[in-house]
Amino acid sequence: MLKAYRAELLSVARDPRDAGPAAVRHESDGLLVVEDGIVVARGPYAELAGKYPEPEVLPGLVVPGFVDAHVHYPQTDCIASYGEQLLDWLDKHIFPAEKAFVDKAHAAAVAAFFLDELLRSGTTSALVYPTVHAQSVDALFEAALARRMRVVSGKVLMDLGPEGLNDTPATGRAESEALIRRWHGRGRLGYAVTPRFALSCSDEQLAEAGALLDEHPEVLMHTHLAENVHEVAAVAARFPDAADYLDVYDRFGLVTQRSVFAHAIHLPERSCARLRESGAGVAVCPSSNLFLGSGHFDFGQADRHGLRLGLGTDVGAGTSFSMLRTAGLAYQAALAREDRLDPFRALYLATAGSAALLHIEDRVGALEVGQEADFVVLDCAATQLLARRTGGADLATRLFALQILGDERAIAATYVMGECAWKSPKPSTLC
Ligand code: GUN
Ligand code: ZN
Repeated sequence: MLKAYRAELLSVARDPRDAGPAAVRHESDGLLVVEDGIVVARGPYAELAGKYPEPEVLPGLVVPGFVDAHVHYPQTDCIASYGEQLLDWLDKHIFPAEKAFVDKAHAAAVAAFFLDELLRSGTTSALVYPTVHAQSVDALFEAALARRMRVVSGKVLMDLGPEGLNDTPATGRAESEALIRRWHGRGRLGYAVTPRFALSCSDEQLAEAGALLDEHPEVLMHTHLAENVHEVAAVAARFPDAADYLDVYDRFGLVTQRSVFAHAIHLPERSCARLRESGAGVAVCPSSNLFLGSGHFDFGQADRHGLRLGLGTDVGAGTSFSMLRTAGLAYQAALAREDRLDPFRALYLATAGSAALLHIEDRVGALEVGQEADFVVLDCAATQLLARRTGGADLATRLFALQILGDERAIAATYVMGECAWKSPKPSTLC
């Protein structure tokens, strides 16, 4: 089935840090043609009109569906939990809630709400933490398959957690193997070996994670790195022989170009050099970093080393599922360290940059011909204030205002594989 959409189109396929302004592709009056879920043509309406069926007009700014490079679905109901930094927050709020995911029905109910909330926020792909329970992975993948979303996930490995939330090196390995066989490559789904973080895994379990990756070079590795100063100190105390936090993972074969590290705030230069050399990626999580008092990601340091970056909400430490809001907070985190994050680069991080971390950048993130047609219609007049600030403004001003003032309210519609997966009940207004 051939379907054409006429709209203002915007995408940023490469990091403007490396590619400059040429990275930005913008058609102020564009045509996007989709066949069987795949983009088959894109360009100025004036050039393409007449070659395709009568288009549907989308009132708004169309950008690629957002890609959340780090989020925890079992923490949906723990968002906005008061009063603690990372380690105490985990003990007091998160671990008790994650124990409930031993119940598959509970996991299925939360997974359904979570994925619908992603769609309402314009997010069509995500790298997701479930819990230690294999059934929490099944619940998420089943729900993602039903919605045709691109989801990468994998059972959390943790054998040093609290009672009721532990596996063992052997069960973690065996359950991961079975889940990879069951889910990796099915529909739009992918698997990530997911040791929770260095402190929740024994040496034996970290070694099993490395062995899993050796055996399955097609999957990702997903974990947390250097998020909080107390966490970093505890890792240094437990691993006195390691050069730094990243080196702990490296010693177990967990640092490769298919690795995604969330946070990476407190990094020595050596870690940055090693991240660059390995090709591993970093999911920047500004909303979470602010909420847990973890610190601000150092864009200047990351850019000096040429690190591969994406953007993650990290809900439930993150306080919003909106990648627009997260992009706006990334700007503010950068500025706190006297760096600038321009709105086009922020859009890159929220789309093609995160897609590259997930190794799906050939499929999604830029609305290029041959890619899957996941896209979002942004409404620059979603709120009175946004309308007032963006009326008559140029593209950069509108995009920045959407990031600073916008959130899920600015998502007029979300399309998955060329089909509308969510539409705002509000009448949409022109951008
Ligand atoms: N480090 C280990 N587990 C977690 C988690 O659930 N959230 C965050 N933000 N950091 C972690
Ligand atoms: Zn996290």
